[in-house]
Amino acid sequence: MSDSPGPARDYVTGALAPVADEVTVADLPVTGTLPEELDGRYVRNGPNPIDPDPSTQHWFTGAGMVHGIRLRDGRAEWYRNRWVRTDEVTAALGEPSTPGDRRDGGPSAAVNTNVVQLGGCTWAIVEAGQWPVRLSDELDTEAIDPFGGTLRGSFSAHPHTDPRTGLTHAIGYHWTETSVRHVVLDADARIVREEPIEVGGSLMVHDTAITESRVLVLDLPVTFRLDEAVAGSRFPYAWDPDRPARVGLLGLDDPGASVQWVELDPCYVFHPANAHDTPDGGVVVDVCRWERMFDRDRLGPNEGTPRLERWRIDPASGRVSTEVLDERAQEFPRVDERRTGTPTRWVVTAGLATAGAAHAPLYHHDLQSGTTTVVDLGATSAAQEFVVVPRDGSTAEDDAWLVGLVTDRAEATTDLVVLAADDPGDGPVARVHLGRRVPDGFHGNWMPQTG
Ligand SMILES: [Fe+2]
Repeated sequence: MSDSPGPARDYVTGALAPVADEVTVADLPVTGTLPEELDGRYVRNGPNPIDPDPSTQHWFTGAGMVHGIRLRDGRAEWYRNRWVRTDEVTAALGEPSTPGDRRDGGPSAAVNTNVVQLGGCTWAIVEAGQWPVRLSDELDTEAIDPFGGTLRGSFSAHPHTDPRTGLTHAIGYHWTETSVRHVVLDADARIVREEPIEVGGSLMVHDTAITESRVLVLDLPVTFRLDEAVAGSRFPYAWDPDRPARVGLLGLDDPGASVQWVELDPCYVFHPANAHDTPDGGVVVDVCRWERMFDRDRLGPNEGTPRLERWRIDPASGRVSTEVLDERAQEFPRVDERRTGTPTRWVVTAGLATAGAAHAPLYHHDLQSGTTTVVDLGATSAAQEFVVVPRDGSTAEDDAWLVGLVTDRAEATTDLVVLAADDPGDGPVARVHLGRRVPDGFHGNWMPQTG
């Protein structure tokens, strides 16, 4: 994600180079002390294309691979990496196709963006139409599974579970539709609502945020290009200077209600950190904001540096005010998800290495004091997305662990790193040494052992 103008970089070498094999490694070495209460799996999804062409491979379309680390009793029991077996992957590997529901002949493409635990199952997920793939606890592909056949349209890589109701909300989209969909799942991972929202165009909507009363629709100017799809592009979405930017506020539990639209300055946002209602009827949302997206570089996000901003959205006046919270290049914001939809004090983001640099720290933002702890994880190391894992029995937002992958670029090895959320600057309390490199990828989650 360099700041230099085109020509495009490639997305299949260096830190993004795919790994060639699947491994299972038991009893991994640990530096420091793994908290015994961490009983579960950290699993992360990302592209791991099979035999890619660097000149044409879009970062977002590489075959999905999940990487998981099982922690128990203060030990790192195993590391596994497994391709998500879409039809494209099974064909390339010479394996039988995965059982399950098919739609439009799919899923041929990658299911590579996130991996979540919903309804007691593990799901690899992606936006734009490919159906979810259900995985075993050991990360083997079990089935193409549109949530027990309940999903009709597209899902998303970014579902958000409302801690008050247990319902999970997402915004889905598909190139054939000029509407997006508000998709709602119950606690058993069954779809209970798919509500179309007409937007008058075929958008790329990567993520959303919820408050206690509303779901946000990010209508931002990256749109589908039919001509490029016909020409063979596997990711035919591009910056559209003719389309205004706006954010929509839709009632969380109000199907059929009209959306309140508020105009924005043109930009792109992959990831909000969190959002909340304000007493005057507005919404505050914190986002990683890019100036543009898929304009000069059509193979991956490479249009300037994303910074952390706070937007105060006032639907009454139709205005959004913007406060820059941190200018530095950063992405993959996460918060304590017990507070999804309500004010959060802390946001953790992954710094993005500047052009040519190997080093990228983790940022732990205290939005109350306006200070940031920069967590340096090594002179040649880069942090990927970190998640917030509450300590057992805790309620305080910083009474938690921060867990994520860190890759030493010089050594080409990756560790699972655990930090104390109330003192991340003190450095890792534990590093699990995977002994090999995990390609930089997208999103992961902590999946506590249940039952
Ligand atoms: Fe994402």
